[in-house]
Amino acid sequence: MWRVKPLDAILATAEKKSLHRSLGPVQLTLLGVGAIIGTGIFVLTAEAAQKAGPGMMISFIIAGFVCAVAALCYSELASMAPVAGSAYTYSYAVMGEFVAWLVGWALILEYAVAAGAVSVGWSGYFVGLLEHSVGIVIPQALAAGPYAGGVVNLPAVAIAGLVTGLLVLGTRESATVNAVLVAVKVVALSVFIALSIPVINDANFRPFAPLGLSGITAAAASIFFAYVGFDAVSTAAEETRNPQRNVPIGLIGSLAICTIFYILVAAGAAGAYGAQPLYSAAGEHLQPGSAALAQRCVEVTAAAREPLVCSREALAHVLRQIGHPAVGNLLGLAAGLALPSVILMMIYGQTRIFFVMSRDGLLPEALSKVHPRFKTPHVVTLITGAGVMIAAAFFPVGRLADISNSGTLFAFLAVAMAVLMLRRTDPGRRRPFRTPGVWVVAPLAIVGCLTLFLFLPLQAKLVFPIWAGIGLVVYFLYGFRKSHVARGLVETPELAAEAPPTAVPPLPGIRPPGL
Ligand code: ALA
Repeated sequence: MWRVKPLDAILATAEKKSLHRSLGPVQLTLLGVGAIIGTGIFVLTAEAAQKAGPGMMISFIIAGFVCAVAALCYSELASMAPVAGSAYTYSYAVMGEFVAWLVGWALILEYAVAAGAVSVGWSGYFVGLLEHSVGIVIPQALAAGPYAGGVVNLPAVAIAGLVTGLLVLGTRESATVNAVLVAVKVVALSVFIALSIPVINDANFRPFAPLGLSGITAAAASIFFAYVGFDAVSTAAEETRNPQRNVPIGLIGSLAICTIFYILVAAGAAGAYGAQPLYSAAGEHLQPGSAALAQRCVEVTAAAREPLVCSREALAHVLRQIGHPAVGNLLGLAAGLALPSVILMMIYGQTRIFFVMSRDGLLPEALSKVHPRFKTPHVVTLITGAGVMIAAAFFPVGRLADISNSGTLFAFLAVAMAVLMLRRTDPGRRRPFRTPGVWVVAPLAIVGCLTLFLFLPLQAKLVFPIWAGIGLVVYFLYGFRKSHVARGLVETPELAAEAPPTAVPPLPGIRPPGL
């Protein structure tokens, strides 16, 4: 189970599909911003406020920093082994099949559960938009899961189903659509900042950190979700001109742009409207996504304006409350248009990971069956879509985001360790991009990921080991014996030269010319 897939074999697989190096620093940065901005800032700002109060501004900085150091590690491996499967593939080469399997299994949490979270986030904006713009009220029973007194979150299920259907039919977001949606999101956030910052009232910042440093760190662990997606830039390394220079520019550039936007949005929301947490009547702090908080929100809202921490469409709500109802609706529309593309990227990323794992023999080959007419891996797409729909139907957005974070943090941790190990075991290998100050940056990433993981809510921390346990059973029942590496079915550069190209679909939004 410690067998590795030699890096040269991985590169041989990669060489078969030589992609055109067409992306420059600006396109890479746009790609990153497009993949990053989503439910995190549009919806989870309310959850961050419940955990940290106005101090959530610091939480955004902490989470952004951990992502930046992890991103620098990611880039080194991405530039050395620019192949599909990202963290899973790198771990296979460096730490062996067992760790790789666990990372791949964790990535299911990252992608599929995140798709569920973004679907629920979209639903909040959709429901609010219908209510505030055309007066249609979707009953709570059909607009939320049992956690908030509902039965099923139907709009969330519908959007996840729609995106799955599009992916089965082979829809891929073109670079143009991606650029337009990035513009929509950036304009929406800019308008929010422009309208909220000038009407900041200092009193709203007091107390700044009602739950102290632990509240700020706990909010950072949750809001980490707002940055997930930057790995899209690393995985585009093989399609990038001069990756040594451009990949770090794209990664750090997109993370820096988003961090600045996020801090300003958090400052605007907290300062203009207020972002203090809600407590029970007995003065106890209430967890976001809990039935107790939902109940408390009903009580408080009956007597006064709905607090930020109760809103399911945080940014639109703030704009409506500070005197811009029409702009609030437009922002809701922007979120409604742009969030489905994040869902698409996430489900797509998931199918790609499954695809690579089944190509390595760790999952049944039937999963990577390609539809005869649509030429898409329809089996794995439908399975993923069904999972996403179930998650979206019954769970609150914050819980899903926290669970997704637990898997992502594990994957990032594995990547940071892999970079260090590979520097030791294979120092002479060509590294088109070298992580600067790797002996400081990678340990910082490891400590950062561990810290954020420890500050996740208990449930999210428990889901991860249970999920990993299920993964172990699946591995020893199936992958351990069926693995292609175990059966000696590893490609060598010579064999690869004769074999037909491997059909790994390219990333959405960056379809290189000729594919
Ligand atoms: N960062 C993405 C979002 O916030 C996943 O929706």
